[in-house]
Amino acid sequence: MSAAKTHITIEQNTEYLKRYAFLERACMRTLAGWLPGVPEWEAKNEIGLHTWESADSVDLIYSRLRELRTYQPERGLSLRFKRIMQEIDHAANSAEMIATVYLVIKKALLAAYRQHPDVTWSDFDRPTVKITEKVLPAVERQVAWAEAFFSTIQHNYPGWEAWRDYIAGLLAADGGVTGAETPGPEPVRPDNHPLLLPWKECQRMQGWPIFDPSVDVEPDRKAAPEAHRLWRFKHYLNEMTAAETLGSILWMTPEMTWEYQHNVSRHLWDEIRHSQLGQVRVQQLGLKIEDVPQVVQIYNVMMTLPAVDQYALLTTVIEPNGMPEKSTNREHWEAIDDEISAAAVSYDWSDENFHIRWGKKWTPVLLETYGYKETPEEIAARTEAWLMENTPVRMQQKMAIESHQGGTSDDSKQPY
Ligand SMILES: [Fe+2]
Ligand SMILES: [Fe+2]
Repeated sequence: MSAAKTHITIEQNTEYLKRYAFLERACMRTLAGWLPGVPEWEAKNEIGLHTWESADSVDLIYSRLRELRTYQPERGLSLRFKRIMQEIDHAANSAEMIATVYLVIKKALLAAYRQHPDVTWSDFDRPTVKITEKVLPAVERQVAWAEAFFSTIQHNYPGWEAWRDYIAGLLAADGGVTGAETPGPEPVRPDNHPLLLPWKECQRMQGWPIFDPSVDVEPDRKAAPEAHRLWRFKHYLNEMTAAETLGSILWMTPEMTWEYQHNVSRHLWDEIRHSQLGQVRVQQLGLKIEDVPQVVQIYNVMMTLPAVDQYALLTTVIEPNGMPEKSTNREHWEAIDDEISAAAVSYDWSDENFHIRWGKKWTPVLLETYGYKETPEEIAARTEAWLMENTPVRMQQKMAIESHQGGTSDDSKQPY
């Protein structure tokens, strides 16, 4: 009998899965934090989806780890390995972030997931094989997107290779994704890589028009249905800033439980989807995305608040206040036989129910975790007063005022 081992042991299998989950979580975190910092519109849309997909892969792997009786999936990981999560945040620009998150880490994960069924005792470890089969298609798509997209932007960001090589070197120095490869030498960190996160201002491509609050007039729904519809879907397109806000909130609250992070990453993607329903609709109505003024101001002004205040404001004030208008719009669009707009807002409304539910669940936990003395009701009142003073979007002020004018028929405003 040969002494050479043909497959990894159950203990090694558990260690591999812990490392996969950790790297997926690192990618989720960096993608969320970088969402506001990436100016390229296509990349923002993809990063929003991939933040959620990375989180969902973490969640799947955690579930298998629990079956393997591992309840603390980060226990025992080497400090060198854990350093990768901090270091990938320090990219200097879009190209360095994409080159490391996707073309180093995700690509290495892809290879590991593909090999896993051959490495483990597949006959006895079918549940793990099923997990790797489930997470694989998303990573395959993510890497394929990044490779194609990167080739279109890399010339705008000369010098990205040094950062890519450094992060690849960090992973290699700890034995690669599985930790089982022969460790490479400790890489030298390139100079001039201060942490740019959290982004104080969200980034857009140069020359894109910026929203002017003074000319943002809401057309009358009944008297001017076409103008009203276009106006409304331009605001939907700008829900990109809600996704960006959630990206920074997620990045700034790492002390919160995994379940919270999983929920916020989904919330983030939902806001990308709401932006996309605006993108789809304005294009159908004859505009180009880059013609629509970008409401960057709301992200920028919300970033003057701490993460907890931002989360409470979004989920316990802005989102509940917005519900009645969605129901009215659906009825209006159904009445004028605009089934596309009605379908779009019906999914938005459905998503928002969950966002509000998450807000009720997590705001008290955030207040407790970060040592606030306020109750959820107090922080809602305080941040709503702040919103009335500071929002550049008149629609948000109007929704706030209307929500206090006998809007008791809407369930979403009622406490559970
Ligand atoms: Fe939304
Ligand atoms: Fe929402």
